[in-house]
Amino acid sequence: MTSITLQVDLAERSYPIIIGAGFLKDEALLQQYIGSGQLMVVTNETIAPLYLDSLLTKIPNADTIILPDGEQFKQLATVERVFEALLNQRHNRTTTLLALGGGVVGDMTGFAAACYQRGVKFIQMPTTLLAQVDSSVGGKTGVNHALGKNMIGAFHQPTAVLIDTDTLSSLPIREYQAGLAEVIKYGLICDADFFIWLEQNMPALIVRDQAALQYAIARSCENKAKVVAADEREGGFRAILNLGHTFGHAIETATEYKAWLHGEAVGFGMIMALDLSTRLGLINASVLERTIALIGAAGLPVSAPANLPTSDAILGLMGMDKKVLDGHLRLVLLRAIGDAFVSNDFDADLLKQTLQHYL
Ligand code: NAD
Ligand code: GLY
Repeated sequence: MTSITLQVDLAERSYPIIIGAGFLKDEALLQQYIGSGQLMVVTNETIAPLYLDSLLTKIPNADTIILPDGEQFKQLATVERVFEALLNQRHNRTTTLLALGGGVVGDMTGFAAACYQRGVKFIQMPTTLLAQVDSSVGGKTGVNHALGKNMIGAFHQPTAVLIDTDTLSSLPIREYQAGLAEVIKYGLICDADFFIWLEQNMPALIVRDQAALQYAIARSCENKAKVVAADEREGGFRAILNLGHTFGHAIETATEYKAWLHGEAVGFGMIMALDLSTRLGLINASVLERTIALIGAAGLPVSAPANLPTSDAILGLMGMDKKVLDGHLRLVLLRAIGDAFVSNDFDADLLKQTLQHYL
């Protein structure tokens, strides 16, 4: 399988995204993008036994740090351990950090790179589908705070994103399906043809057919790169990438992050955002029905988890989402498949109807 190279166009912060297979063993490619200078590979205790040794045989000059696995460790104290490792190994301002892992490792490594000696280079080698189609691209880095998810962070773009689709072979099915929610998101927000392609090819994606997977990852990254290039720091337009997220975050918070993975919550949140768009007369019911069918075909939940609080309580949690500006709840809505926009101008009663219908 030949690799695909895309470009994130951000003037002097532009960088390539390379999508292919076997990169962890591809010495020439690793040398081309990583070079022979100081390097710290940041990974976690689940990914290290699977992929670290193989990678280190090709980049023997690298130092490594292995972090604990889990969203609960995405916090400043863990990033502090990365700083300690860098200082102990005397890494200087020309060092490069390499994130080998999912979104948690990627977000923390990027944040460590943004802060270490006021900013050093970093490379993303994402190993979950979610990280390959979303979190590794676009430069959002950071950690959680006890008072809010992703509340401490920085925009810091990587110098390259190296996506080895072989790593997905070891990803648990639920994590894989959670990544598919973000893939479907791109079709809905800005790429109607891709949505149709997904309707036709979801059976191939579910069985991780390599050609289908490479195409879906590349198309997702292409869409994300366009949105990021248009609005790097989320002045407005980039917020369309959050379709379904405000609904999803409220459910995640209400269930203390125990019921669903993030991608599962996003999938169901997208259904709710489209339901509201239908009630507002923006799209017709067939768009919602097709989306529910596609999300179901991806193996994602299409009905609410058990034991949710009342819809009023969920509405309260949505009001606390960080995408609220000046006290007005802003939501990503759809005018058509492939045409999303952000709005705070909608009938609150219709939003309550959506919540009551689904929760
Ligand atoms: P994750 O990083 O926690 O990975 C999920 C699980 O899969 C972990 O247990 C991990 O160790 C394991 N894993 C990773 N790769 C594997 C592989 N190849 N084989 C087997 N197991 C593997 O979760 P995620 O879904 O990748 O990322 C979620 C995080 O990403 C959240 O913290 C979220 O806030 C963040 N995020 C960031 C952005 C952004 O733009 N920066 C966008 C979306 C999400
Ligand atoms: N995942 C949302 C963003 O990158 O803006």
